[in-house]
Amino acid sequence: MDLSKAIKTRKSVRYFSPKKADWRKILQAIDYARFAPAADNIFVNKFILVSDKKLIERIAGAAQQSFIEEASYVVVVTSNPSELVRRYKERGERWVAQQTGAAIENFLLALNERGLASGWIGHFSDNIVKDALGIPDEITVEAVFPVGKESRAKKSRISPPQDLENTVYFDAWGEYEMTAEPIVKQR
Ligand SMILES: Cc1cc2nc3c(=O)[nH]c(=O)nc-3n(C[C@H](O)[C@H](O)[C@H](O)COP(=O)(O)O)c2cc1C
Repeated sequence: MDLSKAIKTRKSVRYFSPKKADWRKILQAIDYARFAPAADNIFVNKFILVSDKKLIERIAGAAQQSFIEEASYVVVVTSNPSELVRRYKERGERWVAQQTGAAIENFLLALNERGLASGWIGHFSDNIVKDALGIPDEITVEAVFPVGKESRAKKSRISPPQDLENTVYFDAWGEYEMTAEPIVKQR
């Protein structure tokens, strides 16, 4: 799968097949997260691959989103802000969020390339997830990702993205039009 296809066909999946996904493919996708840009080249994320059914049920409960239980695995993404915040204060906090998003997107695209389905879960009780997985207080739980094979019976649709016209300004805030450069005619 080429990069354009991986980007354009990524989607949030909320219906999973009972067929088990291969955890090695998930590990390969996590491997791609390491290649995302990181401020000062300090990688702040840990990915916890959860396979225990009881733990997955607790995480689904923490998110109050029962479809998570149908996934073969759950990947919990955490960050440790301490080093970036020590060096760069409030700016460091922002960078943790930015680079975590970059690492997660690499992970999601690599899952999609491998034919695995997932979805970003941002709504959950931090305390319940931390307690279930023994995550220390100083670590932030960033997001939860059920991972599996998509249900054949109930397929999720690709959401249409926001229009490009509403995504770009040219030269100044609110400027929707490109001042085109004069075209230099080639002889
Ligand atoms: C930060 C963040 C938090 C999200 N939290 C949830 C969530 O708790 N539950 C859920 O079903 N989807 C969640 N989503 C998924 C979005 O609803 C989804 O990405 C959006 O509807 C676009 O659909 P798509 O991912 O298929 O392109 C979250 C996405 C992001 C980026």
